[in-house]
Amino acid sequence: MITKCLFPAAGYGTRFLPATKAMPKEMLPILTKPLIQYGVEEAHDAGCDVMAIITGRGKRAITDHFDISYELEHQIKGSDKESLLTDIRKLMNECTFTYTRQNEMKGLGDAIYKGKVLVGESAPFAVILADDLCVNDSGDGVMTQMVKLYEKYKCSIVAIMEVPKDQVHKYGVISGREIEKGIFMLDDMVEKPDNDKAPSNLAIIGRYILTPDIFEIIENTKPGKNGELQITDALLTQAKNGMVLGYKFKGKRFDCGSMDGFVEATNYFYNMEKSQKSKK
Ligand code: G1P
Repeated sequence: MITKCLFPAAGYGTRFLPATKAMPKEMLPILTKPLIQYGVEEAHDAGCDVMAIITGRGKRAITDHFDISYELEHQIKGSDKESLLTDIRKLMNECTFTYTRQNEMKGLGDAIYKGKVLVGESAPFAVILADDLCVNDSGDGVMTQMVKLYEKYKCSIVAIMEVPKDQVHKYGVISGREIEKGIFMLDDMVEKPDNDKAPSNLAIIGRYILTPDIFEIIENTKPGKNGELQITDALLTQAKNGMVLGYKFKGKRFDCGSMDGFVEATNYFYNMEKSQKSKK
């Protein structure tokens, strides 16, 4: 059973300055909901009830978001505004939120390693990068799809998608053998390769299921691209020692760490909400 989900959320969000000068990038809203809440909802839908968040300096707003705001809640009690807090209250009632800090930016591998104290070493766990906002209109959310796949294969899984060849340098890129439609047994993974050196155009996006042996592998992984500890490198070792799968998920992903993706996601959710309202 996968019950814990890790959210690396210590990054600075420099691409959104000055908005992210005093506010965590994970709190940027798509309509009225902050990015991290979309991620937490996806994890909760997939069966997780422990949300383990790796924060950093200046990220207090995340902790406050998943807590009671007495004064505000008292103020709007009984008004039509109260219903705006329904979703977040449900998450707060049904999940436990735990936090630790990554105090130096040493890469995604290091951020995940910091989560060891929160998720423990006895069970597999999910990882969601909140900047990658994923939706699936026609069925299970992306993490639910991955949890179901884990139940069959019992190994680490990364979500992958095809990206244009001139974009591969922004991602971890995989290659592997397709063992079922859209499911690849990975034999290579490279973090942010040059466009002409990438093993394919299948890019890793911010959804992972990791088996806990990954922690020992991270301990023995040397800093890679940009001098940072890369989860992609640790996963390659895991793939060589055993098995790691790449899963072409069903649904859509918005890169909300970029201006284009953020605006696209905003328009998408706005149109969804508008069409739902017009049906009522
Ligand atoms: C991280 C990972 C990368 C992955 C990407 C997905 O990179 O290191 O392998 O493809 O997330 O969004 P980042 O975008 O944090 O630099």
